Amino acid sequence: MLDNLYTRRSIRKYKSAKIDQSTVQVLLKAALLSPSSRGRQPWEFIVVEDAGVLEQLSNAKMGAGHLKSAALGIVICTNSTISDVWVEDASIAATILHLTANSLGLGSCWIQIRERQYTEAMTAEQYVQEVLKIPVHIKVVAIISIGYPDESKLPHTDNTLRFDKIYRNKYGSIL
Ligand SMILES: Cc1cc2nc3c(=O)[nH]c(=O)nc-3n(C[C@H](O)[C@H](O)[C@H](O)COP(=O)(O)O)c2cc1C
Repeated sequence: MLDNLYTRRSIRKYKSAKIDQSTVQVLLKAALLSPSSRGRQPWEFIVVEDAGVLEQLSNAKMGAGHLKSAALGIVICTNSTISDVWVEDASIAATILHLTANSLGLGSCWIQIRERQYTEAMTAEQYVQEVLKIPVHIKVVAIISIGYPDESKLPHTDNTLRFDKIYRNKYGSIL
């Protein structure tokens, strides 16, 4: 686990190789293993492998362009009528997917959709809902782009960890 946490980076360049279906299944099982408040499991996942659809989704907002070259995008949706803490539930599942991808030698990156804009008049969420025919009560939190990495990034090290953000017994105290 610790090795996974140190080596996990946001990878935005991918080789053209496809991801085999047994590996996709592992990723999806990992997402479905995510904890959720009261065990309500409000999340739903849309697996996108179609290059045309990936290209459309890559236009959802600034900072989504790398989805175009990904082998796979997993759209993290959540049913806001099932849980009042759907943001947390969906974010946990997205994080687990991102970490599982790293553990399988895949590169991945979180693409934020919730609270982002497609245009001034249309949210990124509305755009993704329209492209994928998602009903309005199903929220879109993020898309995880996944593929075989075509860039290498250094792992995180202890030198850059922000220990200054950790307090003891009361806010602001480092003693
Ligand atoms: C909530 C969240 C939203 C993010 N949104 C985007 C995004 O829309 N596009 C993108 O390229 N990276 C996105 N990232 C990736 C961050 O930029 C990245 O995690 C950060 O720069 C640290 O780099 P690292 O992941 O390599 O450690 C997001 C990450 C998180 C956790």
